[in-house]
Amino acid sequence: MTSTTITLNNGVEMPALGLGVFLTPAGQTADAVSTAIGNGYRLIDTAAAYMNERAVGDGIRASGLDRDELFVTTKLWPGQYGDQAVHGFAASLDRLGLEHVDLYLLHWPVPTAFDATVKAYRAMDEMRAEGRVRTIGVCNFLPHRLQRLEEETGLVPALNQIELNPYYTQPATRAANAERGIFTQAWAPIGGTYQRNQDAVTNGAASPLEHPLITSLAQKYGKTPAQVVIRWHLDHGLSAIPKSVHAKRIGENFDVFDFSLAPEEIAEIDTLDTGVRAGGDPETFTAYSYLTDIDAQ
Ligand SMILES: NC(=O)c1ccc[n+]([C@@H]2O[C@H](COP(=O)([O-])OP(=O)(O)OC[C@H]3O[C@@H](n4cnc5c(N)ncnc54)[C@H](OP(=O)(O)O)[C@@H]3O)[C@@H](O)[C@H]2O)c1
Repeated sequence: MTSTTITLNNGVEMPALGLGVFLTPAGQTADAVSTAIGNGYRLIDTAAAYMNERAVGDGIRASGLDRDELFVTTKLWPGQYGDQAVHGFAASLDRLGLEHVDLYLLHWPVPTAFDATVKAYRAMDEMRAEGRVRTIGVCNFLPHRLQRLEEETGLVPALNQIELNPYYTQPATRAANAERGIFTQAWAPIGGTYQRNQDAVTNGAASPLEHPLITSLAQKYGKTPAQVVIRWHLDHGLSAIPKSVHAKRIGENFDVFDFSLAPEEIAEIDTLDTGVRAGGDPETFTAYSYLTDIDAQ
């Protein structure tokens, strides 16, 4: 089985469905990555901040797959924006044991230091021009941040990776991405790892995977709730990077290319949006300031 592919605004092709490894312990990452590749995944999403880039590289090599058949994403951590960006990238490549990455992302905008954010993006564009990165993009950029980045650099990211699942559908940011030709990729695609507040759930279901609409569609299609939600992303033309450390779930999350949802089912799932994030707010999120020893991994 293979994932459908998306063509980004610079012509680079990217698999729509991949494996995320946020909170995957380094000791379990190589197995998760090689299991995913064995199941047909060709997109792996990591980050310097996940502290598992070395294990991602090990998993890729253990899979035996040719590097050119894989699409590898990693991310620059805000602590290394500004002058540290070139060093941060070289350290990621070194940990991964790769000569290039396919997609390099700014991990978060830093509203209080947006100049450093912009400077890092310019440095990433130079890495792209040198051929060490095929594509560059951003994460967690709200529309006004995309606008400012474009005004200051003249550059339009290929992709914006944002929190996105049936409980938080981000219509305004998706529309702003689409208007600029920026592709939307979903993190926390099946509901994520953060606990939701009670006011950010619908029908008392703490996770979209437990919502009666999703469980009834799962029953209808003979699929699991996670497969229905992943299919919802793909049927919207989005990219999703679900994470799991369990081989069975890694396989399950990729086994979604033999069915699709009806337009009215997609629209019904859209109505589950609570408008409330479970993860960090890009305008106030400062957790990145705690991770200061990114080089000590
Ligand atoms: N750019 C950013 O700022 C940002 C932020 C967060 C995440 N991300 C990326 O996006 C990826 C995905 O987001 P995420 O990891 O936060 O959330 P997610 O993929 O929506 O959810 C992961 C959670 O779902 C569980 N799970 C996986 N498959 C399942 C299944 N089939 N049935 C039931 N539960 C299942 C996992 O547990 P088990 O592992 O125990 O199976 C884990 O607890 C990350 O791994 C990372 O690569 C990016």
